Amino acid sequence: MSLIDSVNKRNIPDHIAIIMDGNGRWAKQRGTQRIFGHRNGVSAVRAAIEASAELGVKYLTLYAFSTENWNRPKIEIDALMSLLINTINTETETLIKNNIALKTIGDTQSLPKAVQKKLGEVIEKSSKCTGLTVILALSYSSRWEITNAAKRLVKDYTEKRISMEDVTEEKFSSYMTTQGIPDPDLMIRTSGEFRISNFLLWQLAYSEFYFTSTLWPDFDKEELYKAIIDYQKRERRFGKISEQL
Ligand code: FPP
Repeated sequence: MSLIDSVNKRNIPDHIAIIMDGNGRWAKQRGTQRIFGHRNGVSAVRAAIEASAELGVKYLTLYAFSTENWNRPKIEIDALMSLLINTINTETETLIKNNIALKTIGDTQSLPKAVQKKLGEVIEKSSKCTGLTVILALSYSSRWEITNAAKRLVKDYTEKRISMEDVTEEKFSSYMTTQGIPDPDLMIRTSGEFRISNFLLWQLAYSEFYFTSTLWPDFDKEELYKAIIDYQKRERRFGKISEQL
């Protein structure tokens, strides 16, 4: 029996954000190279996208490459970039057929030119899609994003485009790379780590967190349903008390 029958279709999170972790350990357990784990991680990405689209999730953010990941061995970075290009090549048509838009957040200008070009193409081609939006966090770190937002805000203030009074939480949010995207309702991290590793520090203020020991390549549709069912049991109070909800 699938857990999908236990998912309340009237309380689907609008935005799910995932820290996809454990590809390396998954590969090591099988005595293979780390890249083998990343390759199998792509199947889990596909499953998460499909399940999200089927359930009517509006935004799915995937932490695919952090700023800190640039410190990995060059051979692994190169393999990840190639995997990204190959995945875009093979999946673009399916994305568009399913009305799925692709966006990125992060310092994408630091990515290799070939990756930037591919991403630009699929973002443009899928820009009219109105179903699920998949957001790839690439060369992303939250502290980079917040610092960058602060710099741009100071510039606008100095050049008199905004005044001190204009600086509200909403205004500050509009300087983030997530501008226009609602904050995640549910944040999932796989592989048994209990950290948020510089991911959406500003945007996760009121998100529900779900941690699972499942390694990312094993995270299938049923695992996503499990996370959503768990989320649906939570009471989101946003600082209020139960009786006020
Ligand atoms: C974390 O596992 C995973 C990554 C840093 C990369 C995620 C990439 C993919 C799932 C494949 C490509 C993605 C797309 C969107 C096509 P880890 O290497 O940190 O694992 P470990 O903690 O076990 O070493």
